[in-house]
Amino acid sequence: MATRTLRPASNLHSICRTLGSTTRPRTTLLSAQAPLSQVSLPLRPFSTSPTPQFQSSKSIRNSATMSIDALIQAAQNRRTIYKLGKNSPVPDAKIEELVNAAILNVPSSFNTQSTRLVVLLKEEHERLWDIAASTFEGLVASGAIPAETFKNQTLPKLEMFKAAYGTILFYEDPAHIQGFQEKFASFKDHFEPWADHSNAMHQYFLWTALESLGFGANLQHYNPLINEPVAKQWNLPTEWRLVAQMVFGSPEAPAGEKAQKPIEERVKIFGKQ
Ligand SMILES: Cc1cc2nc3c(=O)[nH]c(=O)nc-3n(C[C@H](O)[C@H](O)[C@H](O)COP(=O)(O)O)c2cc1C
Repeated sequence: MATRTLRPASNLHSICRTLGSTTRPRTTLLSAQAPLSQVSLPLRPFSTSPTPQFQSSKSIRNSATMSIDALIQAAQNRRTIYKLGKNSPVPDAKIEELVNAAILNVPSSFNTQSTRLVVLLKEEHERLWDIAASTFEGLVASGAIPAETFKNQTLPKLEMFKAAYGTILFYEDPAHIQGFQEKFASFKDHFEPWADHSNAMHQYFLWTALESLGFGANLQHYNPLINEPVAKQWNLPTEWRLVAQMVFGSPEAPAGEKAQKPIEERVKIFGKQ
């Protein structure tokens, strides 16, 4: 299936992403119609060498349908987009499919599967950012935050998030790592950071995938301030630990410039031919 551009050509410039010194039109890599499992990305097999015996039919299909170029392009297309609107390029079922794909396929240490995802769309999403605003109003009333700071800095940001289409809440359920902490006592202190690593993998998968579908997204951390009222509003277990909030919607402005530190400082390869 061919990739499709997000907007008509006349409007391409407004959705160009800045990648280093070059700009390129952003393309959606995932189809709005086909199930994710059947999405065909531009063909370019990884290798022309004979298929090893142990390669499953599923991995053969994957290597044929998803090229490394498409994977890199999806990674390049993932950027922080703050100005988001309420137009969705896909039916909500597609978002659900994506979230389920994350929960089923993202790995976790010892396969603990401790990540929990809560998806808020439309009015439910708006309610979240109203809750954040009233939480801050409480902080202003108690003197913890200056009224001016709230009015000039915090509120405009919260209103910007509210203008988007949805938010994904990323949680960790500690009940699912406690048993492992007891069983593997020498690793006890590692399980929480490992859970956060896995949680971040869910975030990255969904950030990249949402933007491949044509959404823009950004990542926020209003936890722990909003934990209590959010758990109350959606009747979520209070022991779940809120890790991050991913706001997504129609991209209404391109990503900002992004400085890159030199690759040589950040990557070392040994044994390369
Ligand atoms: C772990 C992590 C935490 C982040 N937290 C926030 C945040 O709280 N608020 C925010 O606006 N952006 C946040 N960001 C977005 C980063 O600022 C952004 O990813 C970075 O500047 C690179 O820009 P890019 O996403 O366009 O590539 C976070 C990103 C990561 C990976």
